[in-house]
Amino acid sequence: MLKCLGDTPMKEILVELERRRSEAWAGGGEKRVAAQHARGKLTARERLQVLLDDHSFEEIDIYVEHRCTDFGMGETRIPGDGVVIGSGTINGRTVYVFAKDFTVFGGSLSETHAAKIVKLQDMALKNRAPVIGLFDAGGARIQEGVAALGGYGEVFVRNVMASGVTPQISVIMGPCAGGDVYSPAMTDFIFMVRDTSYMFVTGPDVVKTVTNEIVTSEELGGASVHTTKSSVADGAFDNDVETLLQMRRLIDFLPVNNQADLPELRSWDEPNRIDRSLDSLIPDNPNKPYDMKELILKVVDEGDFFEIQPGHAKNIIVGFARMEGRTVGVVANQPMVLAGVLDIDASKKAARFVRFCDCFNIPVVTFVDVPGFLPGTAQEYGGLIKHGAKLLYAFAEATVPKVTVITRKAYGGAYDVMSSKHLRGDFNYAWPTAEIAVMGAKGAVEILYRSELGDPIKIAERTKEYQERFANPFVAAERGYIDDVIMPHATRSRISRALRLLRNKSLENPWKKHDNIPL
Ligand code: HXC
Repeated sequence: MLKCLGDTPMKEILVELERRRSEAWAGGGEKRVAAQHARGKLTARERLQVLLDDHSFEEIDIYVEHRCTDFGMGETRIPGDGVVIGSGTINGRTVYVFAKDFTVFGGSLSETHAAKIVKLQDMALKNRAPVIGLFDAGGARIQEGVAALGGYGEVFVRNVMASGVTPQISVIMGPCAGGDVYSPAMTDFIFMVRDTSYMFVTGPDVVKTVTNEIVTSEELGGASVHTTKSSVADGAFDNDVETLLQMRRLIDFLPVNNQADLPELRSWDEPNRIDRSLDSLIPDNPNKPYDMKELILKVVDEGDFFEIQPGHAKNIIVGFARMEGRTVGVVANQPMVLAGVLDIDASKKAARFVRFCDCFNIPVVTFVDVPGFLPGTAQEYGGLIKHGAKLLYAFAEATVPKVTVITRKAYGGAYDVMSSKHLRGDFNYAWPTAEIAVMGAKGAVEILYRSELGDPIKIAERTKEYQERFANPFVAAERGYIDDVIMPHATRSRISRALRLLRNKSLENPWKKHDNIPL
């Protein structure tokens, strides 16, 4: 029996459907796909296959084409118009995705390409699910002019509206310029692929014309620049597949929106697990460093830690982990780098992370070993006051459960800043090795007993006296600034219990249109 739709036989309709689909799947054609592969990059659809659970991708707007007729564009229309959009799942949880197709007009953004992304952003916000954008694109479609610029504006405003409501993740997987770096810049996290991805507002050619500087794409905006110097990117991985698999791992840590429960993964790690090796983590000499990462890995579930910005401001460590299967944000001074001091970069890095956690109701666990803020003209001229205030502000405004453990030094303003009781810390613990004071004994004595500086014996006595008085956690504990002095080996069980007690924490800041964090 021959079925038909109107006057067209069904068979012809199906053939036409198949032809149209194949045309869209072919992207910019065999040659350009081969060039993409030759550069070590996957195509947009191949990337989505790696990112999403098998057979979960629900593509929409596959037949959308641009409407531009200028510069011969009327003759070159490719279905999909350079971006693949839709939804899928990652370990069963829904995400919305768009992947720029560099083989189609260099992934550049036209009016219709923008409309597709906007449609996806609106769907994701309405359904309160995360958006992951895979970028490999040359910015505004040059042939379209202001129509493309308007398109970017529409994308940007949706990035802002979704900020703090659903997580937004950008993955840079090729050369990205113009609007294709500004949209990522407004999302929560940016990850890059080493050696094949670049981010710049204007590329090396424009840089040369305007400033006479000669730089390569890698020197201007490669992963090494953005994960170490500029801090634009939160991490980089070796190739497309590894990067996408790491994004799956990251999504597993994140709540799907700002009202959703924390994701809970079954953990086989005993919450009360004792780790005796932590009792000897702190060296006898207070000026000797130790690796704070060792503590983090020994405390969290299965030693699974997703570090954010591992290559930038290494004097502070931030990242996601789990306790009893539930996500926590970890913030920790790193004594191995600059003695764990707080400087401009460390303050900005940690402040942004704490704010992310607070947006999405992720409890924050803070490990403190901080000698203070970094002194010097470079820091003061760079605005340490304003940037240091960001971290102070972020911890103070955060209403999520906050558990803090001081392992060794908590000196000066940095003591207050690092999620202290005074900033509404919920459970604040100290190891017996903690030293909580305005500053180190040597510095304190040099100020208090300036007239005695010529007498080394007296100064040694004064230093000892200061140390005995303050180089311990008990002065703070006597005041209730520390809830308990705990043994290092019990750190995991005490944090687990504290977080359990805080599961129904309810704390609200006064109503405001929005706050005015020092930017
Ligand atoms: C239209 C573009 C394009 C664009 C690339 N292509 N960028 N088409 N508009 N913006 C096309 C090329 O013509 C080419 O088509 C294909 O994509 C691949 O580009 P190549 O140059 O051959 O690739 P490559 O050498 O790898 O260089 C990639 C690139 C470079 C670094 C992205 O193409 C580039 O610099 N493009 C322009 C970047 C830019 O200045 N964009 C405008 C930014 S302004 P064929 O047919 O040969 O395959 C902007 C405004 C928004 O975005 C700002 C908001 C704040």
